[in-house]
Amino acid sequence: MKNDIKDIIFPEDVIQKRIAELGAELNKDYADKSLLIIGVLKGCFIFLADLARVIDLECEIRFLTASSYGFSSASSGKVNMDREIDFDVEGRDVLIIEDILDSGITLTALRAFIAKHKPASLKICTLLDKPERRQLPMTADYTGFECPNEFVVGYGLDYGEKYRNLPYVASLKPEVYS
Ligand code: PRP
Repeated sequence: MKNDIKDIIFPEDVIQKRIAELGAELNKDYADKSLLIIGVLKGCFIFLADLARVIDLECEIRFLTASSYGFSSASSGKVNMDREIDFDVEGRDVLIIEDILDSGITLTALRAFIAKHKPASLKICTLLDKPERRQLPMTADYTGFECPNEFVVGYGLDYGEKYRNLPYVASLKPEVYS
């Protein structure tokens, strides 16, 4: 697996330090609130697990599934998403947790879907943001890192369902995905 890696872009210790900072920001911004965290599966699972443990607030953690990449390194443009929410959103302070904001297609669909359920507030936290790749206008309220415009894997992010378990974010050698 490691032979497929080109460069480590965000090492483990750098990610953990940034997560501590994001946690502190969330603890301040949501002090005295009860947070409904919605993780977007599958890519969010490691980021959410680490972030949740530095959030010192009463919170409920739920998940929705959304995907548009399949086994490709580019978005299909079509989001396959859960069509039902089996928990209460109305009147709640909702924070969506994503691993990466790229074209913006996934979060545009997901945010609109959650907004229909009338949350009191709705914000987005993403570990990585690739603003250069945006196809739809979308900004996150909390961002871990701006990511260079390279195909990245690790720390939850996959290529063809592999590499999610790497403890860092890395670029892949182009021959792996071309
Ligand atoms: C990835 C990632 C985001 C989305 C971001 O999901 O987890 O949900 O793509 O890309 P976008 O801004 O271009 O829409 P993916 O489809 O790879 O599914 P996964 O989370 O199961 O890996």
